Amino acid sequence: MRIRRSGLATGILLAVFYLTLLPFVAHGVGMIGKGLSQDAARHSYLFADGANFGNAAMLVHILAGTFLVALVPLQLLKGLRLKYNRFHRMLGACLVALAWITGLAGMSYIPLRGTIGGPVMSAAFFLYGLCLFTAALMVARRALEGDRAGHWAWGLRLFWLALGSWLYRVHYTLWYLLTGGVGSEPDFSGPFDLVQNFAFFVPYLLAVQIWIARRRQRHQGALVTNP
Ligand code: HEM
Repeated sequence: MRIRRSGLATGILLAVFYLTLLPFVAHGVGMIGKGLSQDAARHSYLFADGANFGNAAMLVHILAGTFLVALVPLQLLKGLRLKYNRFHRMLGACLVALAWITGLAGMSYIPLRGTIGGPVMSAAFFLYGLCLFTAALMVARRALEGDRAGHWAWGLRLFWLALGSWLYRVHYTLWYLLTGGVGSEPDFSGPFDLVQNFAFFVPYLLAVQIWIARRRQRHQGALVTNP
């Protein structure tokens, strides 16, 4: 009965997640269409005339990032992981590759073209890219070493980082719905924007770290009482 209930809760969570992801994916597909058009620079500030490498980096970035966000929740489904271990490994390899491509393309774009929000946003997004890249590297390394606890911990970090771009939009949507956009400016220079540069990944990483530390403590406590 408990298993059925938790399965139902997971199903509802996934359905809500994919519903909220739809506009984000539609936006990504729209941006790719704009990027591929003859006069891309006229359609979006993300593309510039003659800046072929920067434009290509942004296109690759959006494509890989959209697949990453859409696929990453499947990797946490316990049922799939336990029943179809080969699927878990194959999807894991895809996610690591997607995270590297998304991160590397984003980190190449920043020094070339900067960001709409200026140096603070550029620094924050570069840091985000580094975190995503490192988490993908470590989750693969720990899996290859057979370190299950390490693989699990890095997998959780990668999961929340992969969702970061979606969380960034969720924060903005909720804030605009609740306050009409107090502290947010079109050039992303408002206090809310400055906080958001970091708030879509740093607090989540901290929360995951506390969760991992608590789980480890409980596990060690259980080993001491039941050696
Ligand atoms: C994790 C999945 C990610 C997805 C789905 C994603 C998606 C996108 C999309 C759709 C845009 C276009 C923004 C717009 O239309 O307003 C964008 C822009 C951008 N992304 Fe990502 N992204 C992801 C991760 C990252 C990472 C890890 C970095 C860090 C290297 C990054 C850096 C950037 C930068 C610098 C821009 C341009 C910002 C601007 O000036 O407006 N993104 N991304």
